[in-house]
Amino acid sequence: MSTKVLIGAQWGDEGKGKITDILAQQAQVVVRSQGGNNAGHTVEADGVVYKLHLIPSGILNPETLCIVGNGVVIDPKGILEEIRQVQDKGISTDNLKIDARAHVIMPYHIALDGLSEAARGKSEIGTTKKGIGPCYMDKAERCGIRMWDLIHPEVFEQKVRENLEIKNKILKLVYGGETFDADEIIAEYKEYAKKLAPYVADTTVLLYNSIKEGKNVLFEGAQGTLLDLDLGTYPYVTSSHPTAGGACIGSGVGPTLIDDCIGIAKAYTTRVGKGPFPTELFDEVGETIRQKGFEFGTTTGRPRRCGWFDAVIVKYSVRTSGITKLVINKLDTLSGLDRLKICTGYEKDGKVITEFPADLSELALCKPIYEEMDGWDEDISSVTSFDELPQACKDYVNRIEQLCGAFVWMVGVGPGRTQNIIREG
Ligand code: GDP
Ligand code: IMO
Ligand code: MG
Repeated sequence: MSTKVLIGAQWGDEGKGKITDILAQQAQVVVRSQGGNNAGHTVEADGVVYKLHLIPSGILNPETLCIVGNGVVIDPKGILEEIRQVQDKGISTDNLKIDARAHVIMPYHIALDGLSEAARGKSEIGTTKKGIGPCYMDKAERCGIRMWDLIHPEVFEQKVRENLEIKNKILKLVYGGETFDADEIIAEYKEYAKKLAPYVADTTVLLYNSIKEGKNVLFEGAQGTLLDLDLGTYPYVTSSHPTAGGACIGSGVGPTLIDDCIGIAKAYTTRVGKGPFPTELFDEVGETIRQKGFEFGTTTGRPRRCGWFDAVIVKYSVRTSGITKLVINKLDTLSGLDRLKICTGYEKDGKVITEFPADLSELALCKPIYEEMDGWDEDISSVTSFDELPQACKDYVNRIEQLCGAFVWMVGVGPGRTQNIIREG
C-alpha cells in the first residue's frame, strides 16, 4: 500500500490533473482535499479531453473511489454540471463521494467575490470569481453552510435565512450591490440537494478504512505552493492550503499515514491572476511559450503569465511540503528555443539569496540571477526514455534537479497519458 500526496510546486496549472490520471491507474482511491472549482485540470485520455474542476482526475478510472474531502468548497451547481459532463462522456460517477463537512459555495459568495475584487481596484487579486475566498471566510467565521446542512432542508433553510440577514446588509450597504431572496435560494438549492444527497458521506471513515486495508491512495492537489494561504505570495494567493499539510487537514487523515509527496512543476513558470512573479517574461520568448504551451486558463480562459523556470520557488516547495520526487511537465514546449535560462537565486541589496522571501516587500527588492543553458531543436513529444532525449534537454533537467534538491522522477513531453518519461531512481 502507499499514500502519496501530489502537489503543485509553482503557481498552479503544472499539469497535476494529467499526473493524477496516470497515477490513478495504480490507485484505488483519489482524494481532493482543498480548493474548489477555481481549479481547472485538463486530462487527455485516449484522445478525449476532459476539463475537471472539482471532481478528482481519478474519475476516468472506473475502479477508483474518488473522494472530495472536507477541506474542499463545493459549488452545487458547478459540481452537478461537471457530473453531467463526465457522464455524457460515458464515465460513471457512482464512485464519487463528497464529505458531509465540505462547505457549500452560495450565490452571495460569488457576488461578494466579484464585488470585493472591484473594491480593491488596482490591488485586486485577480481571483477566479467563483466565490472561493468568501466561502472560506464564512468557514473561518463559523457561519458557513456545509454539505450536511444542504441535504437537511430544515437546517439549510434556517442557515440561509440567518446568513442572508447579514450578507444582504453587506452586499447593499458596503458594496451597493444586489441583495438575494432567501426563498429563491432555498428553492433552487433544494433541487441541488436532492441530486447531490447520494454522493454525500463521511469520507474520513472511507479513507481511513481504505488506508488500513492497504489500498493505494493518491491525494490530488489543486493550485500550487505559491498560492498557499500561509506559504504563498500573500495576499496574492487562494484561500486554502495547496501544500502537503493541506492534504491532511482537508481529508481528515493524520500525517503518520502519508508515505510520500510528489511535486509537479512545469519546465518553465506560469501564473494566472495578479501578484509578483520574479522570472516573468514580457518579450517574444514569453509569448512563444504562451502560444506553444497553450497557456490559457482552464477555468477562466485568461492568458497565463509566462516566465523562466525559477529554482528558488520549486526548492521552496520541496522544503515546505517535503517533496521527495519532482515531475517536470511540458519540456516539449521549450523545444526550438535557442537559449534557456534558469533562475538560480535572487540578488537583494548586493547579496545573493536562495531562499524564497517571506514577504512581498522583500521579494520586490529581489532580482533573479540567471544561468543560461543551451536549448534543443528536436521535437521530443514521442521520446519514451530519458536516454533518448537530446543532451541539452537532459542537462536542463539534471540542473533543475540539482538546484531544487529533489529527484526528477518523471518528465512530461506532451499532454497525453503516454507522453511521460519515468526515470529510474
Ligand atoms: P493542473 O491545473 O495542474 O491540472 O494543470 P492544467 O490542466 O490547468 O494545465 C496544464 C496543461 O498542460 C493542460 O492543458 C495539460 O493537458 C497540458 N500538459 C500537461 N503536461 C504536459 C506536457 O508534458 N506537455 C504538454 N505539451 N502539455 C502538457
Ligand atoms: P489549478 O488547480 C492557477 C489563482 C487565481 C488568483 C488566485 C486567487 O488549476 O492549478 P481564487 O479564485 O482561488 O480566490 O483566486 O489564485 N488560482 C489559480 N491559478 N491554477 C489554479 O488552479 C488556480 N486556482 C486559483 O488566478 O490569482
Ligand atoms: Mg489548472
